[in-house]
Amino acid sequence: MEVQTVGIVGLGTMGAGIAHVCVQAGVETVGREVSAGLAERGRATIERHLARGVEKSRLTQEDMDAALGRLRLTTELEALAGCDLVIEAIVEQADAKKELFDELDRIVSPQAVLATNTSALSVTELAAATSHPQRVVGMHFFNPAPVLPLVEVVRTQLTDPAVHDAAYDFAARIGKEPIRCSDTPGFVVNRVLIPLLNDCVRVLDEAGVTPDDLDKAMLHGTRWPIGPCALIDLIGIDIHVHASDALWESLREPRMAPPPRLVAMAKAGLLGRKTGRGFYTYER
Ligand SMILES: NC(=O)c1ccc[n+]([C@@H]2O[C@H](COP(=O)([O-])OP(=O)(O)OC[C@H]3O[C@@H](n4cnc5c(N)ncnc54)[C@H](O)[C@@H]3O)[C@@H](O)[C@H]2O)c1
Repeated sequence: MEVQTVGIVGLGTMGAGIAHVCVQAGVETVGREVSAGLAERGRATIERHLARGVEKSRLTQEDMDAALGRLRLTTELEALAGCDLVIEAIVEQADAKKELFDELDRIVSPQAVLATNTSALSVTELAAATSHPQRVVGMHFFNPAPVLPLVEVVRTQLTDPAVHDAAYDFAARIGKEPIRCSDTPGFVVNRVLIPLLNDCVRVLDEAGVTPDDLDKAMLHGTRWPIGPCALIDLIGIDIHVHASDALWESLREPRMAPPPRLVAMAKAGLLGRKTGRGFYTYER
């Protein structure tokens, strides 16, 4: 099945990024938000990022105009009726996502694919809340979606293999580097990365090392492209703690649990780059 029109539900950080990738790849895209103002905010984000691409000669003004012309905004879920694939990127709350999938299941055609961008919820549980769980997959994009190539295409035990293939093919068509995986806690990257970053944070206290020196150690001792503390600041301390909590809840392995130091930082509002302070201080 070739996807002609894609629906993106939620045009926040991830949804706007995914919509950007789709329109730039030539796909007709319908973006749904809860209010016209938030939908417009999503469109403005996409426009700003595309304009930066024009400034840096990565695309032409004509390409940018054509891309924006492929984006239709709506607050009505019914406007997604003609979509062959709908990717949801709304708040990370199981009940909200289940309600949305239940509604979408009744609105879109029987052949349409429903995808969730959840980082930490069970795709299987979301699928089971619909009447057609065989059409539900995970499509886990990484932040920022226009920059990071990976998409984890997640199958549940109920996913139709043709649906999994369709989601994989779509991710490849829009220029991403998809991988196939099953619905397990953290999928692939977070299952590896979260406990690893937690270990790094614990080493700060155990080895009496500063964040700067720890980052230096991993940059120059292992050629990591970014130090662990700088990476956690980039991800957002709150997002990292949330993802750690979810893995800890599912797997009960001590390394998964968020280190108290990070929990305290999250409580204090030291969330990293987005608040200007985390392990490091940033100009805002
Ligand atoms: N931020 C990340 O680094 C990241 C990375 C990968 C995956 N994710 C996942 O992507 C999803 C979205 O995360 P985000 O960071 O973009 O959140 P966000 O808060 O930036 O955006 C969520 C958007 O969804 C909108 N929304 C809520 N309910 C809606 C509904 N019923 N219909 C339409 N819009 C609705 C909100 O108004 C908001 O604009 C979450 O499931 C998250 O776990 C996030």
